[in-house]
Amino acid sequence: MNLCVSVGHAHPAVVEAVTEQVSLLPHCTTMFYHPVPAHFAEELAATLPAGHDWVVHFTNSGTEAIDLALMMARTKTGHHDVVSLRNSYHGATYGAQSLTGIHGFRHNVGLLSNIAFAVEPNQYRGIFGAGTDPYVEDLDRTIRFNTSGKLAAMLIEPVQGYGGIIPMPPGYMAAAFERIRAAGGLSIVDEVQSGLARTGDNYWAFEAHNVVPDIVVMAKGIGNGIPLGAVVAKRDVAEPMGEKFLFHTYGANPVACAAGRAVLRVLEEEKLRENAKRVGKALLDKLIALQDRHEVIGDVRGRGLMLAVELVKDRATKEPDPETTAEVFERTREHGLVMSKSGAYRNVLRMVPPLCLSIDDVEPVADALDRSLQDCRR
Ligand SMILES: Cc1ncc(COP(=O)(O)O)c(C=O)c1O
Repeated sequence: MNLCVSVGHAHPAVVEAVTEQVSLLPHCTTMFYHPVPAHFAEELAATLPAGHDWVVHFTNSGTEAIDLALMMARTKTGHHDVVSLRNSYHGATYGAQSLTGIHGFRHNVGLLSNIAFAVEPNQYRGIFGAGTDPYVEDLDRTIRFNTSGKLAAMLIEPVQGYGGIIPMPPGYMAAAFERIRAAGGLSIVDEVQSGLARTGDNYWAFEAHNVVPDIVVMAKGIGNGIPLGAVVAKRDVAEPMGEKFLFHTYGANPVACAAGRAVLRVLEEEKLRENAKRVGKALLDKLIALQDRHEVIGDVRGRGLMLAVELVKDRATKEPDPETTAEVFERTREHGLVMSKSGAYRNVLRMVPPLCLSIDDVEPVADALDRSLQDCRR
């Protein structure tokens, strides 16, 4: 499901909203006003930190939203250089691939220039070890040596998703955005995976870092499986884009936005953020207990329902174990569990279930993983 089904498969409230809208008016381009996208934009903006004038532009996918955020930052600042992180994933279009820091996702086609990569602050296997400062210093060096010194933006996933569930350590985002601002750039967060209450503490994962970004990119779970992406930006950041005509034929589609409105309603009514926090903590405890019994588990990490186990051949050297990961992955399916392989070394099993996972599901889920790991013991 790849984080798209946030409030549950075929949730009746989403099905009803979609069915009603599709029979009323399935299509209306952004060239015309329609109340459903307008209301959804207001409701989505209301989930972001108060005290800022947020505006919303809807797209059909995360990658389009990332491209738009990049264009917006370059347009607003008049600068071209952008900093992204190694080990990041931002999408499949030219712009988003160019910002992606894992070679398996970057096609050999001559991607965009003026993008520099800083070292990701991976607290388990990062090249500078644990801690925040060495990674901030690397960012300083990246800006000094790999850019013109005039920045358009820095783009960060608060928790790197396909990179293997790598949460930004405390203090990193605030320090990074301070440096970017000093170089004239904007801060962009990619909440495509980590957003919409997934990490349990907040609606948006950046909120745990005491930062307010200039642009927030979202997709996946906001549509519960219906194609929907959004760029939410501070008004003064977005406004210069208005000098040109920009629209997506299917952007702000009323059916997709009806699904989005229903998702936000269900999240509130069913208290799914609180659920993600509680159930995620119970699942995390089980995974930590599994680590005691399975030598192959090098690391367990994550918050809410964005969790991962990283498999290694040797806990001391942390040598990745993609072979066992692939085997465990196959076995989990046989035991009724859907996980996903990720990480630059394909040795991380992600657990990113719908936010309605019940506390009663925790035991069977952990058991299924336990049995799969036992099946693959060497
Ligand atoms: C963090 C992140 N950003 C952007 C994207 C791109 O979104 P989409 O696949 O909807 O284009 C993805 C997709 O997996 C993602 O995980």
